[in-house]
Amino acid sequence: MYILGVWDGHDSGAALIEGNKILYAANEERFTGRKLEVAFPRKSISAALEYTGLKPGDIEVVAFPTTELTKTISRIFPWQKENYYKFRRRKMLKPRLETLMRFTKYSMTTIGRIPLSATISNFAVSREMRRIGFSDFKIFPVEHHTAHAATAAFTSGHKKGLVVTIDGLGDGLSGSISSFANGSLERLAEIPARDSIGIFYEQVTNILGMRELEDEGKVMAMADYSFPFKFEENKLKDFFEVKDCSILAKYGPLKQYDALNRISWSMPREQFAYMAQQLLEHVLQQFFAQLHERYGFSNLSLSGGIMSNVKANMKIRELDLFNSIYVFPHMGDGGIALGAAMWANYELNGVSAYDFNIYLGDEYDEDNILSMLRKEKGIDFALESDTHSHAAELIEKDNYIFWYSGRMEYGPRALGNRSILAKADSETVKEKLNIMVKQREWFQPFAPSMLQEDASKLLEDVKEYNKFMTMAYRVKKGRSEIMRSVMHVDMTARPQMVGNENRQYRGILSGVKKESGYGVLLNTSFNIHGQPIVRTPEDAIDTMKKTKTKYMFLNGFFVENKLSR
Ligand SMILES: [Fe+2]
Repeated sequence: MYILGVWDGHDSGAALIEGNKILYAANEERFTGRKLEVAFPRKSISAALEYTGLKPGDIEVVAFPTTELTKTISRIFPWQKENYYKFRRRKMLKPRLETLMRFTKYSMTTIGRIPLSATISNFAVSREMRRIGFSDFKIFPVEHHTAHAATAAFTSGHKKGLVVTIDGLGDGLSGSISSFANGSLERLAEIPARDSIGIFYEQVTNILGMRELEDEGKVMAMADYSFPFKFEENKLKDFFEVKDCSILAKYGPLKQYDALNRISWSMPREQFAYMAQQLLEHVLQQFFAQLHERYGFSNLSLSGGIMSNVKANMKIRELDLFNSIYVFPHMGDGGIALGAAMWANYELNGVSAYDFNIYLGDEYDEDNILSMLRKEKGIDFALESDTHSHAAELIEKDNYIFWYSGRMEYGPRALGNRSILAKADSETVKEKLNIMVKQREWFQPFAPSMLQEDASKLLEDVKEYNKFMTMAYRVKKGRSEIMRSVMHVDMTARPQMVGNENRQYRGILSGVKKESGYGVLLNTSFNIHGQPIVRTPEDAIDTMKKTKTKYMFLNGFFVENKLSR
């Protein structure tokens, strides 16, 4: 049975599964070029069909998440979500009615699922599917946090464990707690949207002059530039409390926004960021300690936007209560198309485990790439037999390279197939990449990829391999020079530990190891800041030209830009 998952909200996308296999998954932003796209994922759906050679008539079930009232209204009036997209991304001058827009947004947060909205959502999504040629399918709505939970539980590899989702909100909730055992996923408790720590962090992001639902990672990074202080001195400390395995907010979202605004006014930005990050870590540590005490599971799997906070995840790991902590790598709403499909497959066919890998998107063969390269001007190219050694050699000479290989990654991180790579111990590459290529702010750190077997030589507390850059680790004493360009100012790093799941990528890391003693590299996503990661070889060449980058490996081809800096 082919099941298509479709998500038509923030970071829309599609995923196609059959049995216990994920055949294809991608997000619409990669097709439209608009980061965190909100439009109906027509292009992702047609790419899924094209990749698998299927037709609309082959799809038996179309699953979609979230039927809350506000989402339903945006399905009937799509211009509304387009307006909010521009507002949220600050692609307009500050509207005079900003306060009213925020008031409307936050006053509707607590309204969850009502029967009428579910019926209308079913109708609206089915209508969109018919418009793109689907006629005979079963429509399968899935509750928002159930979709998040399915991604965490069913790809974790755990036979048994606790499953926790925490985000801004969806279907009236900001979190869920479930048990997963003997192939069965059961909800134990919920956190209402009113008590959302995700909305809290989103509001902090906004008050700091950054884009909510997009720049939360920048807030986390900025926090490290504050002088540290004790939790007792944190002016936000009583905004949340944790009691009886529940997170409780002092204020509802509207009052909270006002209170945060007033407090932030009195201090530098990095100090305010520090307070918010410290509070988040404090709340999550207490919350997970209580959950462990009550439910007693030794494995934990996590999903939802808040779980993208790698520092908070590190603090959960450092509680040292769980044997294994798995964070689903596409933890934000971008991953719930897959979650909805998985939940439908679980309900209809009893499937509750997938052999998950992250490389689920488009790929291009040699003929495609060759015919594209022949049309390009201003470049030299050649097919190479040993791209690994060549790439490693260029990196060792302190060049950064563009690395494009195989199927595109699913989710926010480039994990070795659409990556920009450089020396992990370079003194200069960080500034070069930040200013000339990525156009990022100076305080944003880069992350490393490393051979699994080298992880515990470079980092503290490596109990299990983190393949997806979902958690921070402390860099070992004496290793900070090797990790100079991939370490944050507080001596932590967010690593990808590479095993046999990506042999091409391991090849370069092994090449680097031969030259420098450690298989570690700087790995950042192949894009210009504010734009999605590149999808096609054409996107890659275009980015190479725009950034005047000299070297690129494009599957087996070595490409050199004649007009580089
Ligand atoms: Fe969510």
